[in-house]
Amino acid sequence: MTFPAVRKAVIPAAGFGTRFLPFTKSVPKELIPLVDKPVIQYVVEEAAASGMTDILLVISSDKEPIIRHFNPAPELERRLEERGKTALLAEVRSASHLAKIHYVYQQELNGLGDAVAQARSFAGSDPFAVLLGDTVMRSDTDRPVAGQLADVFAETGRPVVALEEVPLEAVSKYGIADGEETSPGIFKIRRMVEKPSPESAPSRLAFAARYIFTPEIFDALDRTGRGKNNEVQLTDAMQKLLDSGPMYGRRVQGKRYDIGSKTGFLKGTVEFGLRRPEFHREFAAFLRETVAKMES
Ligand code: UTP
Repeated sequence: MTFPAVRKAVIPAAGFGTRFLPFTKSVPKELIPLVDKPVIQYVVEEAAASGMTDILLVISSDKEPIIRHFNPAPELERRLEERGKTALLAEVRSASHLAKIHYVYQQELNGLGDAVAQARSFAGSDPFAVLLGDTVMRSDTDRPVAGQLADVFAETGRPVVALEEVPLEAVSKYGIADGEETSPGIFKIRRMVEKPSPESAPSRLAFAARYIFTPEIFDALDRTGRGKNNEVQLTDAMQKLLDSGPMYGRRVQGKRYDIGSKTGFLKGTVEFGLRRPEFHREFAAFLRETVAKMES
């Protein structure tokens, strides 16, 4: 049996971004650039390239610059056209043509679970992906990470979560999966353990910023009270889903960059900069020289 294709995606982008203060006092962290594109555009591109045609951005009134980024900019486009800057024009236009983008306001910032709960009427009776708006996933294959999860959903019809292998000493920073590998890289998850110590961790597979849910998650969220930090935690609702049936995990073929953290931003900037052919030589030489100088 195959289950319906995932055509809808939800991108929570309303959070305060306290880990990136003071920058995020006036600018949404989802607009932090990696080289020249804001993080959230990479995320929307991933959803669109995974076959998702309708994308809901969960925002707050402080995050309205995100709407401007995805709206057409007729005056700017005319100026670029007049000056013959066709490549730049195509790039500027692409942001507003990636998918049908919808917006919903999260009125109070009550956590990631509450942000996902805002997608109830958008989802209707359809399955949907959730992609965190401050996290870029670089895929090692032609299939973007959200699409890799949608492929597991097509086989199982059950919620799917991205799993990233992390070093043992880092497990205490993540939600860790406990499950059995049913085929290479695919795990049937029995339970999740929040931030275990290295000694008690059931695996090194951390939940990694991309999910596929069915509308079941909304009932689970309704039954989820406030948890850690007095926020509605998505992982608490997922634990409730696990009580009613299996969930699957896919070890992602790719890498996660949490741009909402300062070190994640620095690492992403270096790696995405080095991957750009037009800067590679100059930037790599600069990095080598700088490190050598600082360490001598
Ligand atoms: P984070 O867990 O990074 O939360 O959210 P945060 O509150 O923005 O960040 P810090 O910890 O204060 O630095 C992951 C994604 O979920 C969104 C964020 O915007 C981010 O893209 N989010 C988080 C919401 O949409 N609403 C919330 O209430 C919390």
